[in-house]
Amino acid sequence: MTDTTTDRSAEGLRGRIAAELERTRARTARLTEAVDDGDLVRQHSPLMSPLVWDLAHVGNQEELWLVRDVGGREPVRRDIDDLYDAFKQPRKDRPSLPLLPPTEARAYLATVRDKVYDLLDGIAFDSRPLVADGFAFGMIVQHEQQHDETMLATHQLRSGPAVLQAPPPPEPAARVTAEVLVPAGPFTMGTDADPWALDNERPAHRVELPAYVIDAAPVTNGAYREFIADGGYDDPRWWSAPGWRHRQEAGLNAPMHWRRDGDGWAYRRFGRWDRVRDDEPVVHVCFHEAQAYASWAGKRLPTEAEWEKAARWDPATGRSRRYPWGDDEPTSTHANLGQRHLWPAPVGAYPAGASPLGVHQLVGDVWEWTATPFRGYPGFAAFPYREYSEVFFGDDYQVLRGGSFGTDRAACRGTFRNWDYPIRRQIFSGFRCARDARPEESHR
Ligand code: AVJ
Ligand code: FE
Repeated sequence: MTDTTTDRSAEGLRGRIAAELERTRARTARLTEAVDDGDLVRQHSPLMSPLVWDLAHVGNQEELWLVRDVGGREPVRRDIDDLYDAFKQPRKDRPSLPLLPPTEARAYLATVRDKVYDLLDGIAFDSRPLVADGFAFGMIVQHEQQHDETMLATHQLRSGPAVLQAPPPPEPAARVTAEVLVPAGPFTMGTDADPWALDNERPAHRVELPAYVIDAAPVTNGAYREFIADGGYDDPRWWSAPGWRHRQEAGLNAPMHWRRDGDGWAYRRFGRWDRVRDDEPVVHVCFHEAQAYASWAGKRLPTEAEWEKAARWDPATGRSRRYPWGDDEPTSTHANLGQRHLWPAPVGAYPAGASPLGVHQLVGDVWEWTATPFRGYPGFAAFPYREYSEVFFGDDYQVLRGGSFGTDRAACRGTFRNWDYPIRRQIFSGFRCARDARPEESHR
């Protein structure tokens, strides 16, 4: 009987892994089949790789971790390892490398994937750390999904006619208050329990926070336009010293992809110009812009812990949940995730995704800049390699939380941590504001 139970759960895990691998590969295929071969090998921006580099890199990581490491099988193409090593090849050099042409890259991914299905068939999910709970498979699914979001950002930077189509996100279905008070007290940050959580999300630890107030929704285009109209980009009072320096050097005056349109603004989304809609979260702003807006508004960015407490803490039980709405996997009513739509949804579009305290759209829509630089949690241990997270710890990168419309549910949860340079704006980044609670607010 025991054996049957074990088999059945191993069978279940095997099936889930196969489904996730397949779902993910279908997205990779859509993103890379939407353009012709010339477009795949071209570099659309010095900030990004040619799409064909991401494509073969995804296959190479899958080969390294699953075929060679977990499976102990012979290498498929050891000769290309260096070409697709992100640390050995700076982005700007990637277009001039002798990359696999599109047809070969696709064939390489298919060969690797066949071997992965073969080894998945016979695998015993024993206690080896890489294999237990299918961790390495989960890591590879998340890795490919992350590159799918990167490829979506490359599509956004591409010039020429639109090639991606998706229906618009849902309209608002609820009114959302401006701010929410989060009472003082401890909560559990990070996780030990989530089998596919990455090293930087671990271990779970208690964090004590004073009372604070957080915006119930991400900052919208309408609010951000007021900052612009009030001369926010020209007033060094609102900017940090490095932020102001960057604003000057880069000539920032509006979010990336915006241009003036009569007395308003328009922006380019995947090859189409649209009027900026006031009730959508602002996207394509860098950390410095987010920070300047928050100062102008008399607020600040939330710390990473404040973001996570707002997203996970359940006041009824004191427990930290997996998502703002509970522990259930995201569906299309919870959040704007998974490239179902190609831009953020208006505020109020996901009432079912709100936290118990009434904070909306924490997950999906836009990655949210936090005030916190990327560091390991107390007790952090690099796993399975230092290059996933640890080499990025320090003051150079700011943490972003919550995922965007371009993020898959596999690569997004209440504990998930993203990071990037504070000047980045080609990613789907926005923000919400926070502030300390005033004494009369916290003692109600
Ligand atoms: C976590 C999104 C910052 O894209 O550089 C992809 C994810 N790591 N391949 C990145 C990642 C290795 C990473 N971010
Ligand atoms: Fe990668």
